[in-house]
Amino acid sequence: MAPLHVWLSAAFAFCGTFAGAASVQPQNVPKSVAASYYSSFWNDGKATVKYSNGANGQYTVNWSGDKGNFVGGKGWNPGGNKAVNYSGTFEPDGNAYLAVYGWTTNPLVEYYIIESFGTHNPSDTPEATSKGNMTSDGGEYEIWTKMRKNKPSIQGTATFPQFWSIRTAKRVGGTVTTGNHFKAWTDAGLKLGTHNYMIVAVEGQDSSGTAVINVGVAPTGSVAETPTAAPTTTSTELSGAGATLTSTYLGYPTRNTT
Ligand SMILES: *[C@@H]1O[C@H](CO)[C@@H](O)[C@H](O)[C@H]1NC(C)=O
Ligand SMILES: *[C@@H]1O[C@H](CO)[C@@H](O)[C@H](O)[C@H]1NC(C)=O
Ligand SMILES: *[C@@H]1O[C@H](CO)[C@@H](O)[C@H](O)[C@H]1NC(C)=O
Repeated sequence: MAPLHVWLSAAFAFCGTFAGAASVQPQNVPKSVAASYYSSFWNDGKATVKYSNGANGQYTVNWSGDKGNFVGGKGWNPGGNKAVNYSGTFEPDGNAYLAVYGWTTNPLVEYYIIESFGTHNPSDTPEATSKGNMTSDGGEYEIWTKMRKNKPSIQGTATFPQFWSIRTAKRVGGTVTTGNHFKAWTDAGLKLGTHNYMIVAVEGQDSSGTAVINVGVAPTGSVAETPTAAPTTTSTELSGAGATLTSTYLGYPTRNTT
């Protein structure tokens, strides 16, 4: 969903001046290398959104107007197996996703490891197919896939699958070991290709909100976890939105499909 992207390099090389003998070549030039992240921002042109890159892995997104679609964030290019640490705030009003988000080519795949979302669980659609579940980094994730037909991609308009891991207890902050998801997807028959970019992304869909995300910075304290919207077939043990997770996830939901 994000064809427009730019390199953001926060690496600085100190270039000294060398007075004196002309034959002196720079050696052992002191280098101050700050964390360097890839940054991507895509907007469908309808969203009213302000995306700002801060220092190192930080970025801020403010959006309003309840219309349009955007995806932005910071990470790596290429992506791959990493212990992705992040922290911050994510306060959508309406629907949005906070995810480790990326693409592969050959085959072309758009993927999401969803840590939190606003009002819409992306598995709540008849087009989505369940591929089981997995645990990683202290949480459980559902695996889903869906085809996208003639949609924007890093290779222009194309038809390609989306793979999703959706954390059953939403959180904002922690570690996402991406390799665990890639392996679970592969084991479920969901084939990835060559890694393109991979970012900790905020995506807004017809919504408003604010987010400040720090990629590379794990949370210092404990992170609240909120169960996703109660699946239709499970018991009352998972209480409503805003409740603290006190139980493990109760098996596999039959989602609302409307
Ligand atoms: C986002 O909104 C908050 C609250 O209104 C404001 O303090 C902040 O400066 C805004 N940041 C950007 C990047 O627009
Ligand atoms: C995330 O934090 C862990 C623990 O400090 C560290 O080992 C790991 O390298 C970090 N991940 C990245 C991608 O920097
Ligand atoms: C999903 O997780 C539940 C609860 O841990 C487990 O009972 C179930 O077997 C899992 N399903 C799959 C397909 O792995």
